[in-house]
Parts: sequence; structure tokens; C-alpha cells
Amino acid sequence: MRITVLTGSPHRKGTSALLADRFIAGAEEAGHEVFRFDAAFEEVRPCLGCGKCRIAGERCVHRDAMDVLLPRLVAADLVVFAMPLYYFGMPASLKAVVDRFYSVNYALMESRKRAVLLVTAADDREETIVPLRSHYQRILSYLSWEDAGVVAALGCSSRMNLERTRYPEQAYQLGRCC
Ligand SMILES: Cc1cc2nc3c(=O)[nH]c(=O)nc-3n(C[C@H](O)[C@H](O)[C@H](O)COP(=O)(O)O)c2cc1C
Repeated sequence: MRITVLTGSPHRKGTSALLADRFIAGAEEAGHEVFRFDAAFEEVRPCLGCGKCRIAGERCVHRDAMDVLLPRLVAADLVVFAMPLYYFGMPASLKAVVDRFYSVNYALMESRKRAVLLVTAADDREETIVPLRSHYQRILSYLSWEDAGVVAALGCSSRMNLERTRYPEQAYQLGRCC
């Protein structure tokens, strides 16, 4: 299976990076091919909403890291969204990537993918994650993708907190079994 992992944290050794690392370790051990895109370290310009990509024979006006990502995204069987919770939603770097799905919307819809959400948050109350879960579910139903699992590591503001929990193991198992 081809898996594309999208991360959204500016911390290479942060909490959500650990979940992504463990997921990838499980997935690679299970024989899957993984392509990782760390949005916070890539040049991804915001969608201009110009509509050029919707004109037959045209493509997105931007030339940036999405040129590399989009073919991998379209070809993927499973897409992983790995991020820290920022103001009850996804970080801007990852949202910029999701907005740029627009230029390949129909290809993404036709390919019937599955998706995984890996998220870390400082707050340990389940309610804190409700808006992001809902956003994730809504994106999936819009694209006709299926949810393959969620690891929500609540109460984890530091790597040390997270390492003491079962969430990294859950991410690893999800990668192995997805
Ligand atoms: C800009 C910003 C916004 C945040 N918003 C939230 C939030 O809404 N709820 C929450 O529980 N934690 C919030 N946090 C805390 C992070 O989600 C948390 O520390 C996470 O573990 C950081 O992940 P990382 O190490 O992968 O970057 C926020 C942190 C930052 C920097």
C-alpha cells in the first residue's frame, strides 16, 4: 500500500513528530511504501482562489513543493494527517496543504482513499479535540475517503509527557495494521 504522511508541526522532534515516526515505523515494518511531507519545512504558498486550476488543461498557478506532493497524494491509498492542535484546529502549514488539494479535488475524490488522524494537544479534555475531529470527518466525507483510525494524544504538551503514554504504541500499531 502507498501511504502519504502529512505533518504540520514546526518541531522536528516534537510530540506529533513522534506519533508520525511511530506510525511510519509500523507501516514500513508491515511492508508499506511511505512518502512523508513535513509541511512546516516546505514551501507551500496559500491557495489564491483564482480558479485557474478548474479551467480545462490548466493547473495551479503556484510552482512550489506541492508539485512534488500532489502526484504522491493522488497515488496514495492512505493519507495520514499528523499535527499538533493549534487553536482547536490544524496548524496553518498543514491547512495550506489541504487548501491546495483543490487543484486535484476530483482525482482525490475518485480514488476512494483511507485516512488517519494523529494529533497531540496540551489540554487533556476530550472536548478540546471535537472541532478538529469534526473538520477531519467533514473533509473525509467530502472527498469520499474512509477513516482508518485516530490517535488523539491529549494532555501531551511535551515529548516527555507523550513518551510516558500509550499513544506512541497506538500510532505504531495503527501503522502496522492499517
Ligand atoms: C500556536 C499554538 C496553538 C495551540 N493551541 C492549542 C489548543 O487549541 N489546544 C491545546 O490543547 N493545545 C494547543 N497548543 C499546544 C500544542 O498542541 C501542544 O503543545 C503539542 O504537543 C505541540 O505539538 P508538537 O510538539 O508536535 O509541535 C497550541 C500550541 C501552539 C504553539
